[in-house]
Amino acid sequence: MGTMFEPYIIIKFFHIVMAGIWLGTDMGVYSAAKKLRDPNLTIETRASMGNLSGILDMGPRSALVILLMLGITLTFLGGWGFNASYGSNLGLLAFIAGLAWLAGIWHQYWVDHPNLGEERPHKHIQFQNIFRKLDLFLRVIITGILFVVASLSLTGNGPIEAYWLSIKLILFSAIIACGIGIRLYIPQAREAIADIFKNGSSPEREGKLSLNRRISLFFVKSIWVLVAVIIWISVAKF
Ligand code: HEM
Repeated sequence: MGTMFEPYIIIKFFHIVMAGIWLGTDMGVYSAAKKLRDPNLTIETRASMGNLSGILDMGPRSALVILLMLGITLTFLGGWGFNASYGSNLGLLAFIAGLAWLAGIWHQYWVDHPNLGEERPHKHIQFQNIFRKLDLFLRVIITGILFVVASLSLTGNGPIEAYWLSIKLILFSAIIACGIGIRLYIPQAREAIADIFKNGSSPEREGKLSLNRRISLFFVKSIWVLVAVIIWISVAKF
């Protein structure tokens, strides 16, 4: 009983919950997005499938940031790495930066999904035009940092002590890289869908929608596999 409510246990609990939310909502995104692309369904049904996949997609989007925030804290609290004096500062910094990042991501959702026929205020749209670039830039930087730090740690010259955690961080950086890949395809898909919703279904418009879909699906499925392998590694701690 004594250890049940220790900060480490509570943080680890939420870390594991986030891993579950990631996979659970991702399955929902996949099914809803499939119906969104189905030309045999009515435009109304497809539109509501689009909305559903949009909100469900906030699961993986949020989980990625939260897993990283909590993971860094678990790493230094559990003595898995960052053992120097900067560990707690790094944890605090990650927490604050993570909250700001999450706010930006949810604001993006709010801007991208206005009520029917409405538009969000111009300054919010403008803010998101900047945030979207910043977000992408941040992801590239984090992918690079995680990869380099984890690789150095594997050779004994980095801040991560646990072998399994270094491998995990390399796979995690690959997940962020896949997310960057998906983001590059989103604007074209969004345009094609808007065209169908506005002007109705036609073979040409559906063709544009399915173009690039295969590349995007490759990234989506790679993320599932990577998350599953990460969970296995985290449990086994080989
Ligand atoms: C896709 C991303 C992630 C998933 C799915 C994930 C999943 C998990 C799971 C399921 C556990 C529990 C293992 C167990 O209880 O035996 C765990 C533990 C842990 N995770 Fe993560 N994690 C992710 C990202 C991260 C990141 C980015 C970090 C570090 C920056 C991290 C650091 C840790 C640490 C240190 C533990 C050990 C906790 C312990 O067992 O005492 N995780 N992770």
